[in-house]
Amino acid sequence: MIMSKSVSILTLQKYKHEGRKIVALTAYDYSTAKTLDQAGVDIILVGDSLAMVALGHKTTHAVTVDEMLHHTKAVTRGATRALVVADLPFMSYQVDVTQAIINAGRFIKEAQAHAVKLEGATPLNLEIIERLSGMGIPVMGHLGFTPQSIFGLGGTRVQGRNADEARKLIADAEKLQKAGVFSVVLEMVPSVVSKIISERLHVPTIGIGAGNNCDGQILVTDDLLGKYTDFQPRFVRRFADLATICQEAIEEYAQAVMASEFPNAQESFALDKEEETELMRTLVEAK
Ligand code: KIV
Repeated sequence: MIMSKSVSILTLQKYKHEGRKIVALTAYDYSTAKTLDQAGVDIILVGDSLAMVALGHKTTHAVTVDEMLHHTKAVTRGATRALVVADLPFMSYQVDVTQAIINAGRFIKEAQAHAVKLEGATPLNLEIIERLSGMGIPVMGHLGFTPQSIFGLGGTRVQGRNADEARKLIADAEKLQKAGVFSVVLEMVPSVVSKIISERLHVPTIGIGAGNNCDGQILVTDDLLGKYTDFQPRFVRRFADLATICQEAIEEYAQAVMASEFPNAQESFALDKEEETELMRTLVEAK
């Protein structure tokens, strides 16, 4: 799909107004970012899910700012059209506003990300969002199931399941918008709640496990491609089974190597016949 004009926060706003759904996915490396970009994905999120998917941790907590920066740099090299959003990892913004500004600034300055994302609507987060958006750093919010708070939430659970919780989610989304976010991710939220939030907000909502009424959808790319197989949340649809395809290809390669069938002549480099003769002659003479 060729879509040349680059996506900005205004493009996303326009898409919401036009009812054009926003397509978002995660990437942690250059070649994945390039593929997503060329496929017409609007937002590429360098999610802290990379802690689990790319680095093999059990939760998102362990990933550091430096690790996130390293991957974000690779992603921004691969994306020319999509808006690249970098997740602020656990404990990179929870201390105070100064810490948040310094870390968010690094993603824009060192990694060339276009925006940052943070989880929750605490009073500190609202202040951070106001300050960052005021200095021209777009911020994406994230409500519902927020993986950085997995222990506080008691596990991976749908949020906003009763009227009180749902009202709090709606109020939090409105607070985030007032503070200045350009978009809000809604994770593991009942469809009716994400519908109400999407209708009330003028900024776009991006759903993951939040039903079909959000202004856009996001998934972890490795989940949709069937590459990350440690577990499959109910809301994930696998559009491919790359784990099996990759394993089969690697087994074929191993067999070809063991059978001395790889590499063949076309995959190897030859020496000119004359040079070969000369080489052999001098080697024999030198004996
Ligand atoms: O880290 C991540 O990949 C995310 C998405 C699941 C929204 O936050």
